[in-house]
Amino acid sequence: EMSAQERAFQERIDAGIKIEPKDWMPEAYRKTLIRQISQHAHSEIVGMLPEGNWISRAPSLKRKAILLAKVQDEAGHGLYLYSAAETLGVSRDQLVDELHAGRAKYSSIFNYPTLTWADIGTIGWLVDGAAIMNQIPLCRCSFGPYSRAMIRVCKEESFHQRQGYDLLISLCRDGTAEQKAMAQDALNRWWWPALMMFGPSDAESVHSAQSQAWRIKIFSNDELRQRFVDQTVPQAEYLGLTIPDPDLKWNAERGHYDFGAIDWDEFYNVLKGNGPCNRERLRARRQAWEDGAWVRDAAIAHAEKRAARTAQ
Ligand code: ACO
Repeated sequence: EMSAQERAFQERIDAGIKIEPKDWMPEAYRKTLIRQISQHAHSEIVGMLPEGNWISRAPSLKRKAILLAKVQDEAGHGLYLYSAAETLGVSRDQLVDELHAGRAKYSSIFNYPTLTWADIGTIGWLVDGAAIMNQIPLCRCSFGPYSRAMIRVCKEESFHQRQGYDLLISLCRDGTAEQKAMAQDALNRWWWPALMMFGPSDAESVHSAQSQAWRIKIFSNDELRQRFVDQTVPQAEYLGLTIPDPDLKWNAERGHYDFGAIDWDEFYNVLKGNGPCNRERLRARRQAWEDGAWVRDAAIAHAEKRAARTAQ
């Protein structure tokens, strides 16, 4: 049974009115947003690691400059998102603590290794492609700060997707047979984890119904996954690559591609912390936090000095 206050809140959402931080909101709405926005922020920050691994090995100055810019954008996205979460009454320190303690989730995709240079192109193409598919609708979500942060994030994600696809065009259309084989190998490894980014099937998605009612989610996990497959198949064809799914087939009746079954055991195993790189990722984030202690100490000392000076 909804209270009058909850009913009024739901009516605002149904009317497409944005909810702002100082507005009344149900506690569960606040909690859901903190959960999703902080997971999203952590994904951006942890997501810097697999690609950061290749900055010093990029094959040209141009590719290095592009990759550096992309990884820096991801740091920026993490910061906008932590700020959006802070408007809901949690601190960035609290959220980062949860991550470092291994209690917070971040996207499963960032627990896979980047073995070759083709992985960098494939991440841009597939991972950033999937991220855009999921995030464009979030520009219209009900919570003001999150929806506004998404506008700039999506513009930058679209650059990330394009640079990845451009890299793969160089390998697949202009490159040697060996370079094309390297791209095919990367696609073989990243395809299924990219489909898992959209989350469990609608039948298994615990939060979807409530999040859709609150317009925190506009489309379901399966709807977005289908759109992603439909958009990506012709892009793979243009590259001359084969998607590693024998069941992938155009279904004229549905007007969509049918695709094979996702290995949900693998997905849940990664969520539990047992993916190929989960431990390495957490270790790297904790190390970066410890290495940055002197910067935080200096900033605090400086702020205290200034405060003491103005108090005089
Ligand atoms: N990786 C890790 N965890 C996941 C993933 C995934 N790919 N998909 C779902 N989950 C988790 C959910 O966070 C939830 O966990 P929790 O209850 O402990 O919080 C659980 O699995 C159940 O899933 P759902 O009920 O479907 O959860 P939800 O409604 O939150 O939908 C989704 C998941 C689609 C990822 C949603 O949270 C979302 O749209 N998030 C914003 C986008 C985002 O975070 N993108 C990050 C990757 S893109 C990038 O950073 C480049």
